[in-house]
Amino acid sequence: MTTLATAISTEPFESDHLNLNPGSQSTEKRQYSIVLAQDFHNSLAGGPDLQHRIDAMNPTRVFIITEESLGRFGNLVEDVLSLNVPIHQLRFPGGESGKHLDNLGSVYNELIQNGVDRKSLLIGVGGGVVGDFAGFVASSILRGIPFVLLPTTLLAMVDSSVGGKVAVNTGLGKNMVGAFYHPGLVWCNLSALDSLPDSEWSCGLAEMAKHTMLETSGKLRDLLLNSATDIRQPGVLAQRILESVSVKAYVVARDEKESGLRASLNLGHTTAHGIESLTDYKQFSHGQAVSRGLVTCLLLSRERGMVQEQVDANLKLMEALGLPMDTAGFEAKDLWEHMKFDKKNVGGEIRFVLFGSSGLDLSVPVGFEAFSNAWAVQRQMYG
Ligand SMILES: NC(=O)c1ccc[n+]([C@@H]2O[C@H](COP(=O)([O-])OP(=O)(O)OC[C@H]3O[C@@H](n4cnc5c(N)ncnc54)[C@H](O)[C@@H]3O)[C@@H](O)[C@H]2O)c1
Repeated sequence: MTTLATAISTEPFESDHLNLNPGSQSTEKRQYSIVLAQDFHNSLAGGPDLQHRIDAMNPTRVFIITEESLGRFGNLVEDVLSLNVPIHQLRFPGGESGKHLDNLGSVYNELIQNGVDRKSLLIGVGGGVVGDFAGFVASSILRGIPFVLLPTTLLAMVDSSVGGKVAVNTGLGKNMVGAFYHPGLVWCNLSALDSLPDSEWSCGLAEMAKHTMLETSGKLRDLLLNSATDIRQPGVLAQRILESVSVKAYVVARDEKESGLRASLNLGHTTAHGIESLTDYKQFSHGQAVSRGLVTCLLLSRERGMVQEQVDANLKLMEALGLPMDTAGFEAKDLWEHMKFDKKNVGGEIRFVLFGSSGLDLSVPVGFEAFSNAWAVQRQMYG
């Protein structure tokens, strides 16, 4: 069992970008900027605008890809960019069912018909679904072309756009075909979040809460807690996003391919996987399932010696953010059946990322009785 004695310590970033360096695991030094902006033009902290950053990549052609329901964002980006190279827009059906192997063929062919070459740039505009799909297309067409992400959900800004995991679903599972492939730039337009439904805000906030739980000092958790009531105010949100991204970047920079530390990001994901699988990925968004899974993890962690004060502080943060923490009417035994197929399991044992008395443990075997007790407590506390 790997124990991270003090979990993760990180300082909030002060600038508007992070340089992501996957570090010693890679021979190639990959760095890219994550820019926070109020629109698709200018960064909040100055520096080159989107157009200049894209120009600097010297693309021969630009392809903008988004999901069908987010076409307005694709059009907006096309209007904003005034480039001397051809621009072509592509759309694919959204949702988990759209992020599917079956939708790749027509997209590859459309790119080929419109002259894609190895210096073409693919710009993905949308949430995590678009980012994962666009990234996978970029990683595989012509054995890899440059890509840029313009995330439009909070979850995509703080989580899925950072770290280089790209994937599509197959008929038999989520993210079963994928690659590690990093974008050249991530441009987070905060005003895109104006139209984001509350339930999708919760998904991003759940991942942000998770990131603060991984940080040792509790400083980031306090900052997020103190911002809970005005989190949608752009200045506040920008700062909290940077801190959240800094945690993900810290982890990914040290373990790009998930041979150890990166597994910490799976906190809350074992139960979440059970909820998503039980409901065939239709009833709850990923973040809503993760939110409930975080509560289960904290309750299981308390039984393993996590200090009560820490458990309480994390639960208090989730309550303040208004995150879904209930058991959604599911029975422990039904979830358990679906948790058996989690990628993190080893030798038939169901594994969780959990805290203990000395920090975070990345692969803890948990038996049904312990899970079922924690689930019962969660139901008692949150319904
Ligand atoms: N690659 C990674 O490291 C990583 C990490 C976490 C999650 N993911 C993946 O990300 C996906 C979830 O991402 P998500 O939570 O962004 O979901 P999503 O991309 O499905 O977006 C959620 C919903 O919001 C809509 N939407 C997007 N932007 C909007 C906007 N600005 N205004 C109004 N509606 C908007 C979408 O059409 C969709 O209906 C999952 O497929 C998950 O597997 C990947």
